[in-house]
Amino acid sequence: MIIMKKISVLFVCLGNICRSPAAEALFIKKIKEKQIEDRFLVDSAGTGSWHVGKQSDLRMRVAAKNRKIDITSKARQISKSDFQKFNYILTMDDSNYKNVMSLKNRETYSDLCEVRKIQEFADRFHEKEVPDPYFGGEEGFDYVLDILNDSISGFLDHIFKNHF
Ligand code: 4NP
Repeated sequence: MIIMKKISVLFVCLGNICRSPAAEALFIKKIKEKQIEDRFLVDSAGTGSWHVGKQSDLRMRVAAKNRKIDITSKARQISKSDFQKFNYILTMDDSNYKNVMSLKNRETYSDLCEVRKIQEFADRFHEKEVPDPYFGGEEGFDYVLDILNDSISGFLDHIFKNHF
């Protein structure tokens, strides 16, 4: 019997209540549609701790629900053990990337974990970052989902090329 190691993916934003839980839920939806969810461990986290234990932002959940995406995760803060646990840590913006990298550099080096900006995998959208929708209007949440839909598809293509 061949036992395949799971591919582990952690999505990271600032608060873990808007962008990264949406990315996590969208990624899970896509791997379920492809019937490959057993091959993955998927989670999300924030660099900040303000919202730890809370459900994701209602505006994000509603925007996602309109696209039949269920966001169920509770916020947590990234921790040093995540660098040992995850193959990929995908950040939403430059600030998250810098914060995650500085945490990684303070911890025991792990070559298991590749830290990337999710927008590196975008195809149609040319935004360098997934914009933070927290202080804006409802349309910002839809836009985040549009951008993530594109970059997550690109990331899955990358996974297929490298792991399947
Ligand atoms: P997120 O959005 O990083 O996409 O979860 C934010 C959520 C909360 C705050 C900022 C951004 N905040 O300042 O509380």
